[in-house]
Amino acid sequence: MKVNSTPGPLLAPLPTVMVSCGTMEESNILTVAWTGIINSNPPMTYISVQPKRHSHDIIEKSSEFVINLVSADLAKATDFCGVRSGRDIDKFESQGLTKEKGDTVAVPLIAESPVNIECKVKDVVRLGSHDMFMAEITAVHIDDRFVDEKGAYDFGAMDLVAFTHGKYYRLRPEEIGFFGFSIMKPKTAKRKAAEKRKSRKR
Ligand SMILES: Cc1cc2nc3c(=O)[nH]c(=O)nc-3n(C[C@H](O)[C@H](O)[C@H](O)COP(=O)(O)O)c2cc1C
Repeated sequence: MKVNSTPGPLLAPLPTVMVSCGTMEESNILTVAWTGIINSNPPMTYISVQPKRHSHDIIEKSSEFVINLVSADLAKATDFCGVRSGRDIDKFESQGLTKEKGDTVAVPLIAESPVNIECKVKDVVRLGSHDMFMAEITAVHIDDRFVDEKGAYDFGAMDLVAFTHGKYYRLRPEEIGFFGFSIMKPKTAKRKAAEKRKSRKR
């Protein structure tokens, strides 16, 4: 049996990210859960931001922002950046976060974040409570501690945080499958199992 809920934004799990905006000199951070990927080529993302947020004006004027992924050790700073406004406080300074220069935008990256995604706004859609900034991803930076010698990314080791119905959750880094595993050939399954056993022994 299912209980009917009033229609609402109950999709889960969602990422929670720290979005930096502004410049190296005058910057701000806001926390965003309404975000996702909307196109692969060109790579495009969105953030939905309420017009009353201090960051909204900054992003609207500069047409740039950076999505900084959140690991569990950044959960407290992330929550803080989502409950205090940059109108009243310097969130980089108060949370002890370090600014790093981007490649394609004037917006600072958050050095402590494992992944920084530089974005340039292409369109703004006024949806109601939120304005959706649709943006092209113009550069991505990944902490080299999570890149192996073959150049493969280990997102499981990043200890990323999910936001679900008002709560922050740690993701358990346990791989239960990979893209296309439902239709893999028996030979591939055997090879993958052997690889897994080998990596467990290490
Ligand atoms: C977990 C979490 C997720 C949030 N997601 C969003 C969001 O998707 N869009 C939004 O406009 N505000 C969101 N907020 C609220 C803003 O981050 C918050 O109002 C922030 O203080 C705005 O900062 P600013 O005024 O410096 O821009 C979220 C807050 C938290 C704690």
